[in-house]
Amino acid sequence: MLRFFEKKIYVSAVAFVFTVLFLNQSAAKPIKEYVELEREDLALLIGEKIYKQPGDGCWSCHGSTGIKTETTNLDKDIKNKNIADLRNPASWTSFKIIQKYSGNSTMLSQRDISLSLVRLGAEDWNNELAPLIREYTGSNIIFFDEQMIGIHSKLLKKNARSISRKLKREKVKFKARDVIDIMATSVFYYIEESFIKK
Ligand code: HEC
Repeated sequence: MLRFFEKKIYVSAVAFVFTVLFLNQSAAKPIKEYVELEREDLALLIGEKIYKQPGDGCWSCHGSTGIKTETTNLDKDIKNKNIADLRNPASWTSFKIIQKYSGNSTMLSQRDISLSLVRLGAEDWNNELAPLIREYTGSNIIFFDEQMIGIHSKLLKKNARSISRKLKREKVKFKARDVIDIMATSVFYYIEESFIKK
């Protein structure tokens, strides 16, 4: 179960799964590439800050320990809401997607699907990536509940600014446009380290 998550990549750009979608064509270029911090201590710190942010952080839906709590922000009227137990990746929708995937599964990993969801939020994921995934699975389990906003909270811009300042203070070299990626890869790393590995 933890297999998908054991591989921590130490480079600064994570080349994406979705490479596989283009393997039939001559150039196998990844269509998604997210930047991540090489410094794991800093990634953990930033990830925890985003997860635990007062008001709007991930915890407001996922609970401070990664399990759904009574007091979530989720809209109780929306049926079939499908909240994940963040401690157990085998319970995630991305796991169901990967099981239906009939191609080269070493190229399309659950981790990549989940990370891209955190980065994009379900609405953009469903629009941009679901159609691509659909071609490679014989299944309709390709959409995510749009309540899952990932890092796209009301405070996204404010968070991005404060994280930029933090990175500068820590003398990390980064491009301004990479900050959103760094937020997503850091908070995902925090989940892997704090919930899954426990
Ligand atoms: C407003 C509520 C809400 C917020 C805020 C939220 N999530 Fe989610 N999240 C959900 C729901 C609902 C699902 C289940 C989606 C599905 O399976 O269709 C989910 C699923 C997930 C999953 C499992 C996805 C998979 O691979 O199947 C991860 C990982 C996750 N969220 C991480 C995060 C992180 C990290 C944040 C903060 C940066 C966050 N979530 C913020 C509601 C939320």
